Amino acid sequence: MGASRPAPPSRTYPIRGSARCAERVSGTSPCTRTSTLTDWAELQELDRRHVWHPYGALPAQLPALPVVSAEGVRLRLADGRELIDGMSSWWCAVHGYRHPALDAALREQLERMAHVMFGGLTHEPAVRLAERLVDIAPGDLQHVFFADSGSVSVEVAIKMALQCQRAIGRPERTRLFTVRGGYHGDTFGAMAVCDPVGGMHSLFTGVLAEHVFADRPPDGFDRPLDDRWAEHVSEQLGRHAHELAAVILEPVVQGAGGMRFHSPQCLDLLRRLCDEHGLLLILDEIATGFGRTGALFACEHAGIAPDIMCVGKALTGGYMTLAATLCTAEVAQTISAGEGEALMHGPTYMANPLACSAARASLDLLADGTWRENVARIERGLQEGLAPARELPGVADVRVLGAIGVVQLEHHVDLAAATAAAVAHGVWLRPFRDLIYTMPPYVIDERELARVCAAVIEASRCASGIK
Ligand SMILES: Cc1ncc(COP(=O)(O)O)c(C=O)c1O
Repeated sequence: MGASRPAPPSRTYPIRGSARCAERVSGTSPCTRTSTLTDWAELQELDRRHVWHPYGALPAQLPALPVVSAEGVRLRLADGRELIDGMSSWWCAVHGYRHPALDAALREQLERMAHVMFGGLTHEPAVRLAERLVDIAPGDLQHVFFADSGSVSVEVAIKMALQCQRAIGRPERTRLFTVRGGYHGDTFGAMAVCDPVGGMHSLFTGVLAEHVFADRPPDGFDRPLDDRWAEHVSEQLGRHAHELAAVILEPVVQGAGGMRFHSPQCLDLLRRLCDEHGLLLILDEIATGFGRTGALFACEHAGIAPDIMCVGKALTGGYMTLAATLCTAEVAQTISAGEGEALMHGPTYMANPLACSAARASLDLLADGTWRENVARIERGLQEGLAPARELPGVADVRVLGAIGVVQLEHHVDLAAATAAAVAHGVWLRPFRDLIYTMPPYVIDERELARVCAAVIEASRCASGIK
C-alpha cells in the first residue's frame, strides 16, 4: 500500500486569512507571508488524495465540490456558482444557512464558553434545551441524554433498553426486533439494526449482533394496515419475545435505507405488541424529527409515543453535531435502580454548550409554527413539480411526504451524470442507489422549489440515459 501512495505536494499551501492567524500558524511575522487567494484546484486535489468523504474511496473517484459560503438556501461554490441546497445538508439545515438567530445564539455562547465537560458540571444551554425537548416530545418522555451524533444516540437507546431489561431481571433479553429496509447509523450497534442486505452487514458478518428482522412495512403512508404484514410481525415478535429487549424503528419514513413511506398504523401495531410482550419501543426520529414529515415528530401521525426516542440532524438547525436520546421516567428509574445504578455512557463532548445553544435557537424558530405552513407548502410544490417524472421511462415511482420528494428509478443512478445535471440546473442533490430525492430547507420559496423539482426531473432523465 505504502509504495503506491502519492507523494505529498512539496510547496506550501497559500492561505487566505487574517494576519494574526497567519502569524500564529507560522510563528513568523505576518509581513513575511503572502496571503493569496485560495488555490481551489490544489485544495481539491489534496482533498481527493487525503480526505475521506462519506462512504468514499481514496483517492476519491469524483472530486467533491468546494463550498466557500452558504446563505439562506444557497451554497456558494469556489468558482462563484450558487446552488440551491435540495438536501438541507442531509436533513439538517431546516432554517437555511447563516440564519441571524442561530448565528447570534452561537456568537453569544462563544462569549461565555465553547465547551466544558459534562461529568460533574452543568450549564444553562443544556438544561434549557432538555427542558424544551421534554416539553415538545411526544408522550411522557422526560429525560434527555445528549449524544454527539445520531448514531451515538442510537447506541445509547440500545444500551438503555438492554440495561432496563437487565434491571428488571431479564438479562437474557438482549436482541432487538426491527424491520427490513431500515437505517440507524454507522456505529456497530446501529449498523446491526440496519437492513441486513442493503446495509453493511455482509462486510461485518460475525461481528455485528444478530437481531430479529421482520419484512419491511408495505409501502404507502395512506394505506390501511396490511393484514398479512400485521400477522407476520405479530407472529415473529411473539416467537422471539422471550429474547427481545426492544423494537427499534424509523417511524413512517425509512430514510437512507430506501426513502420509503409506510402507514402510521404500522407504528400503532408495534406499540401494542411492545406493550403486550414487555418490550420497549425505540423510535429513531433522527431524520423525521422537527417537522420534516408534516408533524413535529413522525410518531404523531400514529398518535403513539415511544419509551425511548432518538433525535439529531435538524436538532441544531444544521449548525453543529448534536443528538439526544429521550426516555420515560420509568425507563430512567429502572436503569438507575439496576446493576451499576447508572446509564453506562458519557461522551467527552456531551452536551456541548455551543451545540445546545444552536439547538435552543432552532427550537425557538420552530416554536412559532410557521414550519407547518412551510412544510405543507413544500409538500404541494413537490407533488406538483415532481409529477412529470412519472411519465419518464425508467422511473419506478414518485412519492412525496411533507418536505420530502423522491423519484425512484428502475435501476441504479449514474451518480456523476445525475449530479452534473442537477448542478447545471443550479441545484445540489445527492442521489444514492436508485433514488433521486430532495428534502429542502423549510424556508425555500416557490421559485427555488420549482428549480429543485426541475433539477430532480433532469437528474432522473440523465441518470436514465435520456437525452
Ligand atoms: C434515521 C437515522 N438514524 C440514524 C442516523 C445516523 O445519524 P448520524 O449520521 O448523525 O450518526 C441517520 C443518518 O442519516 C438516520 O437517517
